[in-house]
Amino acid sequence: MKNNRRDFLKLTGLAGLGLSGSGFMPGYEDASDREKSFFRSTLKLSKKKHRQKFNMSGFAAPKLDTVRIGFIGLGNRGPAAVKRMSKLQNVEIRALCDLRPEKAEEALERIEGSAHRPELYSGHPEAWKKLCDRDDIDLVYIATPWELHAPMAVYAMEQGKHAAVEVPAAITLEECWQLVETSEKTRKHCMMLENTCYDFFELMTLNMARQGFFGEIIHGEGAYIHDFIPGIFSKEKWNMWRFRHNASRNGNLYPTHGLGPVCQVMDMNRGDKMEFMVSVSSNDFVMGDMAKDLAREDSFYEQFVGMPYRGNMNVTTIKTHKGRTIMLQHDVTSPRVYSRIHLVSGTKAAAMKYPLPGRVATSHEGWLPPEEIKKLEEQFQPEIVKRIGEMAKQVGGHGGMDFLMDWRLVDCLRNGLPLDQDVYDAALWSCIFPLSEWSVANRSNSIDVPDFTGGSWQNNLPVDISLDKGGNTGILL
Ligand SMILES: NC(=O)c1ccc[n+]([C@@H]2O[C@H](COP(=O)([O-])OP(=O)(O)OC[C@H]3O[C@@H](n4cnc5c(N)ncnc54)[C@H](O)[C@@H]3O)[C@@H](O)[C@H]2O)c1
Repeated sequence: MKNNRRDFLKLTGLAGLGLSGSGFMPGYEDASDREKSFFRSTLKLSKKKHRQKFNMSGFAAPKLDTVRIGFIGLGNRGPAAVKRMSKLQNVEIRALCDLRPEKAEEALERIEGSAHRPELYSGHPEAWKKLCDRDDIDLVYIATPWELHAPMAVYAMEQGKHAAVEVPAAITLEECWQLVETSEKTRKHCMMLENTCYDFFELMTLNMARQGFFGEIIHGEGAYIHDFIPGIFSKEKWNMWRFRHNASRNGNLYPTHGLGPVCQVMDMNRGDKMEFMVSVSSNDFVMGDMAKDLAREDSFYEQFVGMPYRGNMNVTTIKTHKGRTIMLQHDVTSPRVYSRIHLVSGTKAAAMKYPLPGRVATSHEGWLPPEEIKKLEEQFQPEIVKRIGEMAKQVGGHGGMDFLMDWRLVDCLRNGLPLDQDVYDAALWSCIFPLSEWSVANRSNSIDVPDFTGGSWQNNLPVDISLDKGGNTGILL
């Protein structure tokens, strides 16, 4: 039996939730129409010439003594962020929202005993709007399924809130442009929560790049290679949202974890920009068979047999204005060791994080021995790690990087500093998702990468990693 996507929409209960016609899931109702208009619109919007209303790169919003936060999406990722934020001084957790009341309650339990008394919102797919409408919230922190990120961030900014949104920030080019235009119009930050930019090896290579260790950077590589096929097929996941994307879109669906740190090392949007990219996907050798195997045991899975599953391995190559290259990989269904690669290759040296442990080389003769790497780690330890690295490890969140990210976000807002990741980064790093789909569907032809900065990339300043300003947000351990 071959399913089309219209059946799938019904079977997953999405239509029943009243989301299909409400702008939550643009285009999913009719696959072939969606695909046609999606590809046409992707091509058109890839060539869009943008005239900035206001440059959000380097933008510093007025200082906030206390950052008052509302969280939307309290499944797996959201509650951990609530807990981490509760460890920061000058933060007030004012509101918690999840469609499912029990998730909002569970998140509340995680901060029991703290000074925070958030109001809970749940039970309706648009309850989150009430949270955004409040006038005592500064930052809306979004950890919902992908298709809700951009609509929620746009609405939050329109209601005068800064938005911090999980990865990817957007899943169509239209959404990428909406984020950029709304952030410029409202002068509200829209930060994508790309936590890998705050992992320890990545931060070290950023500092090394700044200090010229790599010479001129020629090439970077990043990836999301993470086998979580049981999670993709899990019935427990809300509305099986990850599965739906994997069964209906074919490209690099999760580009930002590998791309973000490489872009920061290359000062992308701040001295260089992406020009064009090509993308190729393998066929599916895993998910279709998995659906058949599961269906033999459990009739629930029969509906998923014969779905148009995404190719398991996607490889995307990007050329930049300065003539540099970036290679990205995406594979979440093969039995491989976790990797984000994080390769930085320059005229004087190279570094590569995965397979762990991270390594550095200064010639073709081999990676430097561990004692030399240790010395480099000491020499190039970035200021943020010196100041709060150990505390971040104690609080945790992917080994501490999640807490470094949250601390830095709050510290920038409190001190009126530009954020490390602005709306142009969110749009650029996320746009690889739809652009790769277009390229894969068009025999891996090249497609332009839009300049979301409207030309300001030529003068935008690199992210400040000195901590010369701010750095004074206290931590409650
Ligand atoms: N940066 C990272 O390392 C990392 C790790 C895991 C997940 N993520 C991202 O976090 C996001 C959430 O992932 P997850 O694993 O927590 O998913 P999840 O399905 O566990 O949680 C999503 C939650 O959103 C809620 N939700 C759905 N519709 C809603 C609505 N209309 N209003 C309010 N709440 C609604 C669901 O009830 C669910 O509890 C995803 O974007 C994912 O990519 C990032």
